[in-house]
Amino acid sequence: MKLVFATHNLNKFKEVQSLLPSNIELVSLSDIGCYDDIPETADTIQGNALLKVAYVKEKYGLDCFADDTGLEVRSLNNAPGVYSARYSGPGANAQSNIHKLLDNMSDIKDRAARFKTVIALDYNGKQLLFEGICPGTILSQQRGTKGFGYDPIFLPNGKNQTFAEMSLQEKSTIGHRGKAMQKLMAHFS
Ligand code: IMP
Repeated sequence: MKLVFATHNLNKFKEVQSLLPSNIELVSLSDIGCYDDIPETADTIQGNALLKVAYVKEKYGLDCFADDTGLEVRSLNNAPGVYSARYSGPGANAQSNIHKLLDNMSDIKDRAARFKTVIALDYNGKQLLFEGICPGTILSQQRGTKGFGYDPIFLPNGKNQTFAEMSLQEKSTIGHRGKAMQKLMAHFS
């Protein structure tokens, strides 16, 4: 079975590919000749995931799924949330976003946060949503070089390694995207 994963993020593509059973052939956006910057203009994580699958379905007519993820920090009213990618403004990247978050939390004692992933699936004419949540805390300094995005400052609950210190396999097992993916896979099994 062929499924498009609507992402340009190679890290995410690899992470998801490692979770899939071998009967599913995962196809990337570049595999289908899509190099567009798919608009993510919704004001919820779920809304953005739905926008991405609708775009691929409409333009390419292919079954597909897309994920959207946000980091929700309790003491910041769940910011950056849906704005996680652009948190530090135009030209934002992982390091500028991390620095902004650490600056904004410099005086904050409550460091509780969670990653939330929503996967939207458009398959056989039906749309479904799958959610995965990983609770943790935001450290005051970066640790580790693996992973991407906010991984170096996110310590999952019950662990003493940040996402950026763990193997991809361990991150996938306990992580938000892995949990949402498990639900997606259960749908196909
Ligand atoms: P997107 O939904 O993949 O576009 O991600 C939104 C933002 O959250 C981007 O800044 C990503 O770098 C960040 N992000 C998404 N997934 C993860 C993750 O697993 N770890 C750390 N940061 C992530």
